[in-house]
Amino acid sequence: MKNMTPWWIRIPVVFFIVFGLMEYFVDSGDKPAFIAYPIVSGFLVLVLLILIATELIVRSIENVMFQTLPEEAKQKYLEDDSKKFEWKWGKRVYSKLLGSKSIEEEHEIILDHNYDGIQELDNNLPPWWVYLFYAGIIFAVVYLARFHVFNDYDQILEYEQEVAAAKIEIEEYKKTAKGLVDVNTVEVLTDAADIKAGKKIYSTSCVACHIADGGGGIGPNLTDEYWLLGGGIKNVFNTISEGGRDGKGMVAWKQILKPLERAQVASYVLTLQGTTPAAPKEPQGEIWTPEEESK
Ligand code: HEC
Repeated sequence: MKNMTPWWIRIPVVFFIVFGLMEYFVDSGDKPAFIAYPIVSGFLVLVLLILIATELIVRSIENVMFQTLPEEAKQKYLEDDSKKFEWKWGKRVYSKLLGSKSIEEEHEIILDHNYDGIQELDNNLPPWWVYLFYAGIIFAVVYLARFHVFNDYDQILEYEQEVAAAKIEIEEYKKTAKGLVDVNTVEVLTDAADIKAGKKIYSTSCVACHIADGGGGIGPNLTDEYWLLGGGIKNVFNTISEGGRDGKGMVAWKQILKPLERAQVASYVLTLQGTTPAAPKEPQGEIWTPEEESK
């Protein structure tokens, strides 16, 4: 059991390999597998226990075997065992990759000149560097062939694919996010709750100019079929978002009201169509017909 990696490296390494494999193979959506499926956590705990148990068993076997050794073998064993843990394998690889000679061997590679006591060693290129260099050459050849000879794909295509994928994601997101309406996607809301919310917004923000029943004051009459800036949900939503013509007094509400709120108040404004206000303002603008919206 000497010169092996100690238990405090062995157990975590094996455990995390098992853990990684579980995460890789168990399809658990956004969440990590051990959270999505409690049984996976259970399994991992079991794995950990088995690893610890194995360690303990190996220990005790070692111990039993130790007791059977003759006295001097015992001494030797203890001596070896008390040596500090060295990770020989790691050290060997490290010095291989460095490719340097130990000080005792330096006389083999010393160059034949000496400037005021300064000498030069003819070291090999470090293998880690050389391998990296070869790998670079192979990569370059494959890259050249793939992209410049066979024209696999180019940056523009890559860009377009990413943009397309992002657009699909945005559409998916918009479907689930109700508050994310814009002038292109807005539709008349008919839910009583939405109309009620719209009415509330209207009575706090809009009555000052359009009067509670929509009959009009500073702002135009919202109950008739005449529109200055176009009727229909899209135009009304747009007017509310972007405001009226410059200097007329209708501000852009997009800074103040959220998209959903604008859709709600727009829908509420449309419910005023055809009602009879107490003091209607004279019609302004033109009669608006729905066909125009498709223009
Ligand atoms: C400060 C006064 C004022 C307030 C407050 C106001 N408006 Fe207006 N609104 C106007 C004026 C003035 C116009 C006409 C704009 C133009 O002629 O370009 C207008 C136009 C409109 C129109 C277009 C009417 C048409 O004939 O095309 C709609 C819809 C509208 N307002 C809705 C609202 C809503 C909803 C609110 C509250 C969120 C609101 N307004 C708040 C003054 C106001």
